[in-house]
Amino acid sequence: MNILSPSILAADCARLGEEIKLVEEAGAQYLHIDVMDGMFVPSLSFGLCVISSLRKVTDMVFDVHLMVEEPIRYVADFAKSGADIITVHLEACSDVEETLDWVHSLGRKAGISLKPSTPIQAIEKYLDKIDLLLVMTVEPGFGGQKYLPASTARIREARRLIQEKHADVDIEVDGGITRDNVNVVLEAGANVIVAGSAIFNGNRTDNVKAMLETLKSCEKG
Ligand code: DX5
Ligand code: ZN
Repeated sequence: MNILSPSILAADCARLGEEIKLVEEAGAQYLHIDVMDGMFVPSLSFGLCVISSLRKVTDMVFDVHLMVEEPIRYVADFAKSGADIITVHLEACSDVEETLDWVHSLGRKAGISLKPSTPIQAIEKYLDKIDLLLVMTVEPGFGGQKYLPASTARIREARRLIQEKHADVDIEVDGGITRDNVNVVLEAGANVIVAGSAIFNGNRTDNVKAMLETLKSCEKG
């Protein structure tokens, strides 16, 4: 199934609870929460207390994207605060396998994210250890950037690799996804779609509904 994961990085932070209700009621299944540490990426964003507060107001799946150096240090805290999927950057972990095992041992789904410059083949040896592969379609760190066209071939390569290995892994895309290019990433093989500005700029309900319609029309099988 294709899934929409609105990124709250683009939401109005003074009204986060209401923003989430809007996208939830419009039908979005996941909520994408970007955590930035000012080291792995230049910016800072949300932390644990925001996630645990949001956990009290919604049952949406919390899709937590950790743009943090050595995320293993915080995995237990994020699991406790209410993260359902914990995605770490391959480039940020000194021991990727140990980090993924730790996420699973806490009963959470584990994802690996790749920056645009990291070869897709780098995830091959972890395919049986992950539930989700997050292919960044912009440089991580900021919302509102333009989709990098080279991403389409990377998504295709990831889908081919996952199929070849008969792995049960979702492919998520993140960065610059809009109503105009979402069909391109779906066709290439992505099935979890992150969208920040495309959802939270303008009418949230209409934006979610329009995205979900495209996600449905591109559903495979
Ligand atoms: C960027 C973040 C994204 C960001 C996407 O580093 O990981 O999740 O919110 O924002 P848009 O959809 O505006 O490109
Ligand atoms: Zn993200």
